Amino acid sequence: MSWGSISLSVLVIFVVLCSAKIAHAHASMNLRNSSDIDTHQNYTQFLLTNGVARTPPMGWNSWNHFQCNIDEWTVKNTADALISTGLAALGYKYINIDDCWAEGKRDWRGNLREKSSTFPSGIKSLADYVHAKGLKLGIYSDAGYKTCSKTMPGSLGHEDIDARTFAEWGIDYLKYDNCYHDGSKPLDRFARMSYALQKVARPILYAICEWGEENPAKWASQYGNAWRTTTDIKDIWESITSIADENNIWGRYAGPGRWNDPDMLEVGNGGMSLEEYQSHFSIWAIMKAPLLIGCDIRSASRETLWILGNKEVIDVNQDPLGVQARKIRSKAGLEVWAGPLSSRRVVIVLWNRSKYRAPISVGWREVGLSPSNPVSVRDLWAHSFISKGIRSRLTAHVAPHACKMYILTSI
Ligand SMILES: *[C@@H]1O[C@H](CO)[C@@H](O)[C@H](O)[C@H]1NC(C)=O
Ligand SMILES: *[C@@H]1O[C@H](CO)[C@@H](O)[C@H](O)[C@H]1NC(C)=O
Ligand SMILES: *[C@@H]1O[C@H](CO)[C@@H](O)[C@H](O)[C@H]1NC(C)=O
Repeated sequence: MSWGSISLSVLVIFVVLCSAKIAHAHASMNLRNSSDIDTHQNYTQFLLTNGVARTPPMGWNSWNHFQCNIDEWTVKNTADALISTGLAALGYKYINIDDCWAEGKRDWRGNLREKSSTFPSGIKSLADYVHAKGLKLGIYSDAGYKTCSKTMPGSLGHEDIDARTFAEWGIDYLKYDNCYHDGSKPLDRFARMSYALQKVARPILYAICEWGEENPAKWASQYGNAWRTTTDIKDIWESITSIADENNIWGRYAGPGRWNDPDMLEVGNGGMSLEEYQSHFSIWAIMKAPLLIGCDIRSASRETLWILGNKEVIDVNQDPLGVQARKIRSKAGLEVWAGPLSSRRVVIVLWNRSKYRAPISVGWREVGLSPSNPVSVRDLWAHSFISKGIRSRLTAHVAPHACKMYILTSI
């Protein structure tokens, strides 16, 4: 498929209205001065202060593509590929091993052991390899007796010893899952690993994965740096739209050091169209989700790298203000998502989930900009300014399941 035909098929029309009257005043939302930002500041006093994840974590995780078929060679080759594709330089730093990396039984002292058939050199040596390339290593465990694959022990009751093992190995990131537990509340089980990690000398990003069961946005920022808000993602359109909506509910709880996690990316795994993957990536970026690549980077197509490597979209995700954008309007599947960025900019995504013919329109007042001020509009997928001074509103036609992503700057 050629990029030219895609951009041609996405025709953008601007309607400049001189009238200050805004049709969607009922949905208006001042993003610069919303009470959400107060709430967001109030939560900082309870923050886990391990100093990591000031912007959403970026990297790769083995699960979505490899599931249990993971070994040290795949991990090393993936680290090499992150560098050679240029993705590492764009911020994808964490190489995260998911489930199935350990032997089924602990050693006689109670330590987890890496599986000798698939990780014969050991996790420590893998961490050294990854660190030597300027990358970071993540690992996986579970707040239960076994991990979800049932192939290895979980950390319930072994939190301290496992946290020490991870620190000794040089682990930088822990994804902590929720299978085969004792029926106690997630908060209790996930807090125990948080305390164990805080006791070790190494700062380890702690990603809580209790699947949104106990509304973790409300409590998990005291214990971890990110928390899953939903069940597992699938490489299909319906999964993307439903997870986006569920994650959206918790927008105001996100901020530097503490992020809602709608699960890892499926971009490049083959189940969706190019436009659908672009929408997936755009919405994950604007929601300040962790951007964890879930495909095989070693064989990623040019299209996949074009999406994952869009620096302008990544910059939105990594913006220092760290405010999660939210859906501000939805009618018949035509959606407007918006959020504030640093330097008084606003990012918007116009997303077409519909089957119907209708333009998507957004007024400046709805997103906290003065309708009488001219606004420069940058298209983050076309990499060009569509205008350097539009007043009042813009209207776009967006291909089915595609989106347009813009940064608006008052000038
Ligand atoms: C923000 O809202 C408060 C109360 O609604 C108002 O007093 C204040 O002037 C507003 N600030 C700005 C910058 O609009
Ligand atoms: C945030 O904290 C301030 C001062 O403690 C308080 O007045 C305000 O109501 C809080 N806002 C929210 C949304 O909880
Ligand atoms: C959204 O896609 C539908 C086809 O599914 C198309 O008819 C419609 O015009 C598109 N909407 C916008 C706003 O471009």
